[in-house]
Amino acid sequence: MADSCIYLDHAATTPVDDRVLDAMLPWFRGNGAANPASGQHSPGRSAAAAVDTARRQVAELIGADSTEIVFTSGATESCTLAIRGLARAAGTGHIVTVAHEHPAVLDPIRRLEREGHEVTIVTPPASGVVTGAHIASAIRDDTILVSVMWVNNELGTINDMASIAATCQDRDVALHCDATQAVGKIPIDLGTVPVTVLSCSAHKLHGPKGVGALFVRGGPATTRLQPIIEGGGHERGLRSGTLNVPGIVGFGEACAISNREMDVESPRLASLRDRLEVGLQERLDAVSVNGAVATRVPTITNLSFGGLVGPEPLVNRLAGVAAAAGSACSSSREGPSHVLAAIGVPDHLAANALRLSVGRTTTTADVDQAIEAIVAAVGC
Ligand SMILES: Cc1ncc(COP(=O)(O)O)c(C=O)c1O
Repeated sequence: MADSCIYLDHAATTPVDDRVLDAMLPWFRGNGAANPASGQHSPGRSAAAAVDTARRQVAELIGADSTEIVFTSGATESCTLAIRGLARAAGTGHIVTVAHEHPAVLDPIRRLEREGHEVTIVTPPASGVVTGAHIASAIRDDTILVSVMWVNNELGTINDMASIAATCQDRDVALHCDATQAVGKIPIDLGTVPVTVLSCSAHKLHGPKGVGALFVRGGPATTRLQPIIEGGGHERGLRSGTLNVPGIVGFGEACAISNREMDVESPRLASLRDRLEVGLQERLDAVSVNGAVATRVPTITNLSFGGLVGPEPLVNRLAGVAAAAGSACSSSREGPSHVLAAIGVPDHLAANALRLSVGRTTTTADVDQAIEAIVAAVGC
């Protein structure tokens, strides 16, 4: 970290793992920097082979085939490609999503609404955990697309994707899943969960920023999905533009590490997250966890601190700890978190909520120091 602040904002982004950085470096320099589309020469073919390896590593982490992976610049682009791409292919029709989705999903859907699509925004339950039953009642005969995230980025709550995907499959509706906060955090097997398209991003699992992927079931040729970026026909025509080879290699390596280490890493992270929660609850009155406690990724907790008054939100008074009040991407927007509002957290509790998220480099000492800093901030 650039300063001594304790970094508990891994849901916003994670530091690049040293092993990932080592894997990336050769692809910036010398012949390694060749364009993977330059199949006429061996440096180009080597770069293409490195991309193929990464494509396989990403696919393996989510139980997909490497032909089903399209590289993008990140989850925001993947979500837009999925949502606009499917809507454009369908022409007209009704779209379903959920009120506590990320802006990367809500904003393109709102734009489609302005362009004439009818939209239903489902209210999630107080637990934050959405199931197939919540979605089933919103699907109509003319529904062309359902978009539901796997893990909520502010709460860490895990939606029941198996039942949501089964519901969409039964009703023959395409399902986009924003799995940005799920990939690398919980096991995902797209061989058994029939989502149509799925978005993810390298920088949430200790990979580099600016690279992501869209899983497209059956590959770009079989799913009705139109590109939003056209040019050289890269990524089988779905996403034109010279491939970011170092970024893609880093994404692949980050996926391979998560695949190997998740079983050991997840319980360690969950115990750090629990130590943080219990430590704060022991020292402070009225600390409540927002969203379902039992159905969460190991890395995220979202806490409200009752009884706090004053105009300045707790996150702004916190010194020495990097935490968030909501998602990094929406924190520039005015007002309390739309996620907490959607699950019915009262404004006075939402105003002082903290999202704390641990990661691979977080230690017990970090957690203990963070508890002291938060207790001090609540007291002042
Ligand atoms: C749930 C979710 N979706 C989408 C995004 C956007 O990802 P990216 O930064 O890769 O565009 C984020 C990042 O905060 C996220 O948490």
